[in-house]
Amino acid sequence: MQEHDGTGRVKLSFRSLETDGSVSSERVITVPTGVSAFDAASWNGIAIDSTCGGYGTCKKCKIQVTSGDVPPAKLDSRAFTQEEIAKGWRLACLVRTVTDVSIDVPPLTTRPKAATVGVGRQVILRPAVQKRYVELPEPTLHDQRTDIVRLLDAIEDIEATVSLDSMRNLPRVLRAADFKVTAVFIDQALIDVEPGDTTAVRYGVAYDLGTTTVVATLLDLNTGVPLAVKSMLNKQQPFGADVITRISATMMDPTALDRLRSLAQATLAELTKEVCEEAGINPLHVYEVALAGNATMTQLVLGIDPEPLGVAPFIMASADYPDVEAIELGISIHPRAKAVILPSLGAYVGGDIVAGALASGMDRDKRLRLFIDVGTNCEIILGNGEKILATAAPAGPAFEAASIKCGVRAASGAIETVKIVDGNLVIGTIEDTPAIGICGSGLVDACAVLVQLGLLDHSGRFVTAEIAAEISPLLAPRLLEREGERVFVLTWGANVGDPSDAVFLTQRDVRELQFAKAAIATGWALLLEEFDVEERDIQQVLLAGSFGSYLSPASAIKIGLVPKLSVLRIVSAGNVAGEGAKMVLLSAQERHGASALLEEIDYVELSDRADFNDKFVTRLSFPS
Ligand code: FES
Repeated sequence: MQEHDGTGRVKLSFRSLETDGSVSSERVITVPTGVSAFDAASWNGIAIDSTCGGYGTCKKCKIQVTSGDVPPAKLDSRAFTQEEIAKGWRLACLVRTVTDVSIDVPPLTTRPKAATVGVGRQVILRPAVQKRYVELPEPTLHDQRTDIVRLLDAIEDIEATVSLDSMRNLPRVLRAADFKVTAVFIDQALIDVEPGDTTAVRYGVAYDLGTTTVVATLLDLNTGVPLAVKSMLNKQQPFGADVITRISATMMDPTALDRLRSLAQATLAELTKEVCEEAGINPLHVYEVALAGNATMTQLVLGIDPEPLGVAPFIMASADYPDVEAIELGISIHPRAKAVILPSLGAYVGGDIVAGALASGMDRDKRLRLFIDVGTNCEIILGNGEKILATAAPAGPAFEAASIKCGVRAASGAIETVKIVDGNLVIGTIEDTPAIGICGSGLVDACAVLVQLGLLDHSGRFVTAEIAAEISPLLAPRLLEREGERVFVLTWGANVGDPSDAVFLTQRDVRELQFAKAAIATGWALLLEEFDVEERDIQQVLLAGSFGSYLSPASAIKIGLVPKLSVLRIVSAGNVAGEGAKMVLLSAQERHGASALLEEIDYVELSDRADFNDKFVTRLSFPS
């Protein structure tokens, strides 16, 4: 046996066994001390029997410790004989080691209750919301235990805490239900007692509170299955498109904070109502919600003055908010429901990014991976499971198409793809409706195509009409002069040849995109330098966020937004912020994982780097 080395990590050597006793696989895993063997195994895809998801109630997670010091837990004596305990048999979810251990895992006899969430993450279902159905003996003159003692005596596996609020209806509910009731807990706290057996109904809502769009997902906490998903524009939009304009509003108008808070809450309330209606469930059965938002959105929805977030040195009111009641978010669900607010790493790497890092497994995947959430403020994470660096790059509004002449939001009619087929320009619009403008992914595609054709040179200038006619006679007529500026027409309006009602790209639009992509590329280039690795060492690039997910990986490489790697290594990660919020609802353990990320990620500040500008300038051009 080897004592752990003082770094706060221990080695767990797992051998998974077949029914005939042969070894099917072996893994050595290093985890922080105190992580249960069950969690260590489930995080690393080693299947251990369980139907309770690691709560110590099913007694199915049997393992045999073959070397290392693991004193038996109290509950082990209920699952094993003394002889078995002496031979090292333990319940895996109760094994918390401070020394290196070797463990044999018997073959599965049941399917573990798990859900796939985020970027291929298997999450063992262990919600903080727990229900226990009990049938209690009625009180008699010989059994005068109080109602609460009678209830809690019947629930062995939860050491409950009880609030006055949760006790108020207890006498009435117990008697009306003939002492057959379901106790509802969040973590250890009793929040309600419901008549009859309601264990089948247990729901949560995960929110991705974006500056532009807000998404709500209703989850069945018994199965991990999403029952309804709805999204809508953040009702704060009239205050401006980005976080800075909303922070400024609170600085200029003392009533703005209250109004912004109410609008964010109204957005969440409406979405909550919609998801519950769509799934046909009673909102009173929603006991917990989780919210992932950037630091400004988080502070605004909680009614916290955001001013220090908007000015140097950019300070948050708090990185995390441990005990928030859902009622604080203005939503109508169970009156004692809780809200988990994903913690933020810094003013510009918020809870949405911590959620994204969690859902992408940035803290446990051993490959060197680059995570880029493309947006006005672009968050970048580089990590290999051992070391994780993060930064934020001010990309500006080009990707939201806000500063683009014919730019529109990514909605019906926006040009989202641009390709060349047989020398002709082929555009694709959202919902295949007539083009009304161009959105971020269309802008990236258009520039990538024009660079590839040679109509844009590597410095980002449109070539002359003569050169255009030479290299692309079919497309050269689209390169025009309009109001003193060179433009490239993507789609004509009523009159071909007349750019007045066409959708086009201007020289200035190209410059805007160059500034945005150079800011991002400088961000990841500096992180690579800090990490002391090269571009080619990156094994996977995850493009996250509502914009990143729609971006063509090939175009992103062509314009130099991401490192020049095989296109297969560039992966769209989807709405990972929302996925992270789902994970913390499905697993209390993942919630701790989100908090642990704050310790594990090192933030690299770019704004005071002397070499930022030089690197930025060299990254402005398009790669050859
Ligand atoms: S996982 Fe159920 S008792 Fe350990």
